[in-house]
Amino acid sequence: MAAAAAGAVTREEDAFRRLFRFYRRWEGPPQPPPPPGLIDFSRPAAREVKSCSLNCSSLSDQDAYRAGLRPVSQWKTYGLDNYPGFTFIQDPFLPGCQRHWVKQCLKEYTQKPNVCNLDMHMSFKETADLWEMSQHQIRNKCSNKYQPKSLLEKLRWVTLGYHYNWNSKKYSADHYTPFPLDLAFLSKQVAKACGFADFQAEAGILNYYHLDSSLGIHVDESELDHTQPLLSFSFGQSSIFLLGGQKREDAPVAMFLHSGDVMIMSGFSRLLYHAVPRILPNPEGKLLPSCMELPLHDLPADSIIQPCSQDDWQVCARYLQTSRINMTVRQVLAASQSFPAEIETKQERTVTVNSYQREH
Ligand code: OGA
Ligand code: MN
Repeated sequence: MAAAAAGAVTREEDAFRRLFRFYRRWEGPPQPPPPPGLIDFSRPAAREVKSCSLNCSSLSDQDAYRAGLRPVSQWKTYGLDNYPGFTFIQDPFLPGCQRHWVKQCLKEYTQKPNVCNLDMHMSFKETADLWEMSQHQIRNKCSNKYQPKSLLEKLRWVTLGYHYNWNSKKYSADHYTPFPLDLAFLSKQVAKACGFADFQAEAGILNYYHLDSSLGIHVDESELDHTQPLLSFSFGQSSIFLLGGQKREDAPVAMFLHSGDVMIMSGFSRLLYHAVPRILPNPEGKLLPSCMELPLHDLPADSIIQPCSQDDWQVCARYLQTSRINMTVRQVLAASQSFPAEIETKQERTVTVNSYQREH
């Protein structure tokens, strides 16, 4: 009995959870000062941070430009001691190009047939155009007055491609819609630069965070092929990211993710515990990080980046003053793999039927 109780306490207080709870309450720099172990790749002083060079010839400058990225030779890329397969690329986007992804996440990827958290509680018609339903409210928001939240402000996640089922924790062949071509192209180029030339973007989870949001401790293991990397792109306000070990109890490292930062989890680091305990205002102390305010770089005619109109940007900018958007992109199946045949349980059938009805 005493042993069981002691066990429960140890689990409650494991090193990951302890650090999660610390950062959940942390108010951010300058006061109180950052804890000693916190890594900021924009000021890489920590001993465990290693500059790493990617093979510049794996991604042509032309394809990088088409994706709205700087040439690989200009990327600031880091690895971490004891985390093989973890790569951090400090904002590789060309000036002005981050806006495209923010606009896509708010205006385009929220459209059907993509799936979002609001679909669970609302009718198809009510969630058909979150942008249109929210843009006037966001544009006219008074920051010092309580106002009801727009639908975009209630948005927490969107799934793309093979839609992740949060109940069964599975992807399935019969819940797939086309993955956005622009995001697939960006992902392919980043994966290629990191040595994963065969990567195919098949599933995406977009996370929408506000200053009081967090993401719990988890491993992304539902994909059937773990030899391909998981890509993560961050925009808007900053966050603290905790990267732990293969066991829940392993102590994590803490790092900042700022706007434009890209993270690749592959190999040993593909299946590690991680979490986002805290969203923090960008370190420059401005309403928006300055990389968001740069004029759009010249792009080739066949670029996937569309200039974001002033009108659309006003809404995105307002939203992003208190928010962070993270896009994670995954390959679900190996090249010639298919989903295992499953015997449907009665409950799974009900869920399938419901989501079918929602989409038609
Ligand atoms: C995820 C995830 C991290 C982030 O969506 O699985 O871990 O930085 N996101 O938001
Ligand atoms: Mn994750």
